Amino acid sequence: MPASSRAVEILQIGPYPDWDQLPLDEAFTMHRYFEAEDKAGFLAAVGPDVRGIATRGELGADRAMIEALPKLEVISVYGVGYDAVDLAVCRERGIRVTNTPDVLTRDVADLGVAMMLVQSRGMIGAEKWVRDGSWAAKGLYPLKNRVFGRNAGILGLGRIGFEVAKRLEGFDMDIAYCSTAPKDNAGDWKFMSDPRELARHADFLFVTLAASARTRHIVGREVIEAVGPEGMIINISRAANIDEEALLDALEQGRLGSAALDVFEGEPKLNPRFLALDNVLVQPHHASGTFETRKAMGKLVRDNLIAHFSGADLLTPVL
Ligand code: 8YV
Repeated sequence: MPASSRAVEILQIGPYPDWDQLPLDEAFTMHRYFEAEDKAGFLAAVGPDVRGIATRGELGADRAMIEALPKLEVISVYGVGYDAVDLAVCRERGIRVTNTPDVLTRDVADLGVAMMLVQSRGMIGAEKWVRDGSWAAKGLYPLKNRVFGRNAGILGLGRIGFEVAKRLEGFDMDIAYCSTAPKDNAGDWKFMSDPRELARHADFLFVTLAASARTRHIVGREVIEAVGPEGMIINISRAANIDEEALLDALEQGRLGSAALDVFEGEPKLNPRFLALDNVLVQPHHASGTFETRKAMGKLVRDNLIAHFSGADLLTPVL
């Protein structure tokens, strides 16, 4: 990269760990949007010279923000999901967009499978049972539901869905998937074109779809009820893929057995109805949250920005 690259001004939408922040600060002039109290005033002050955005999957960059940056050339997303970036305005303006695929896939799949096991076997309650003395006072912990050998449905057999299914084979599960078309790498897994059919098959329905306007609420009331009172929905994608109100109604009324969720509408604040339920496992959107993966994601964010401003090919372009 040219020696003058530090002159390149980048708008940083959310914080990164020090091991990413320090090299970014060395390479670029970083404007920390997330620290500004007066966001509009901050954008008006620094916006005219900003040429890049460094953001995170769940934070993205909306049209209003992009429009406040007349010299914007590139948006580098720390995350595989870029649904929170307004791609339409990027296309109109020729702004490049990058994300961090592949490096996080297996950690996300691991957490999804862990959530299924933890929730099905009641491990959070079991931990409490030991710590609060219930084991000694009341005896054996209530029985829970088996995982191995049961039916799994993978809604979205992309990179993450594939890794989830691969792991579930180790539990001797009967695996079906729903994608836009049958996949060559799916082996014996059954293809189902309709999410409702997949939900009827599934004891465990994994939502692993990349989110877009097309997939919004793809898991609606009918799909939720097809999973049914004995079934579980596990979401490691985006909250918008599920109709959250319908999900809450079904969990409250026992029309869905349980849910294990890493993502929520309006996160990190979540609908308080979730917290009153004991048939839902809630996680703080950390499926990619391992040192190894987050370091690889941070490096890709940085390397994509460096590539762009050195005139090299982007490593992982979306646009
Ligand atoms: C977040 C994600 O980016 O990959 C994605 O799309 O949502 C996550 O990896 C992560 O939580 C960092 O903010």
